[in-house]
Amino acid sequence: MAPRRKKIYEGKAKILYEGPEPGTLVQYFKDDATAFNAQKRDVIEGKGVLNNRLSEYFMTGLANIGVPTHFIRRINMREQLIRQVEIIPLEVIVRNFAAGSISKRLGMEEGTPLPRPIVEYSYKNDALGDPLVPEEYIVAFGWANQQDLDDIVALALRVNDFLSGVFYGVGIKLVDFKIEIGRIWDGDYMRLVVADEISPDSCRLWDVKTGQKLDKDVFRRDLGSLTDAYTEVARRLGVMPTNTTTMKPTLIN
Ligand code: TMP
Repeated sequence: MAPRRKKIYEGKAKILYEGPEPGTLVQYFKDDATAFNAQKRDVIEGKGVLNNRLSEYFMTGLANIGVPTHFIRRINMREQLIRQVEIIPLEVIVRNFAAGSISKRLGMEEGTPLPRPIVEYSYKNDALGDPLVPEEYIVAFGWANQQDLDDIVALALRVNDFLSGVFYGVGIKLVDFKIEIGRIWDGDYMRLVVADEISPDSCRLWDVKTGQKLDKDVFRRDLGSLTDAYTEVARRLGVMPTNTTTMKPTLIN
């Protein structure tokens, strides 16, 4: 069968296809899950459908509070139409509580509140295992300039405040997350927008009351069913693959 669309790029969890108009792409969410730079991998049925919906929900919410994103609209269960951007080769990580690599690096117990949100950067390079890099490297190697970095931090902190509030409203603590930033050119004028995806694949989400993990750590650490965890996040937010019109967020107090 001839492919429907031209494939532009295939990553570990998503595929990008040529879009219907210049400057657009179709982002397809796969069911593949990887961790530890793809040393651990599995296919988690339904993950792509959930992440497509959840990323739509967060990107739409961000646009509604004035944070620019690449998202245009969802096309179907697994695909969304996005603006084509020039991806800055950084994973922009924001942490509210210690967990994962910062806990390991500094010997901090997971869940320790941080004195303020910490923004850090990894260089997106699978062969190198996405190493943590200082701002000095980013500017020196020209991945972004100082003005871009100031704008990236401002964007990342707005995303953090928005997501923290949305999750807290449904009884979930946003421990940390990762976003990617893209450039959109309008003649000589350049804008930075939130790109890639926002989903439980790229966040740490803990139930406020029980501390139960509702994110990809369930897969990384073999803590149970990843689909159940993501479905619970979607259910609380009122984002479900079916019957979305009748779903409302479940307020927890
Ligand atoms: P870390 O504690 O492993 O550095 O991860 C911090 C956050 O970034 C966590 O929410 C998971 C997310 N993340 C990704 O989305 N992709 C990655 O490749 C890595 C390493 C982390």
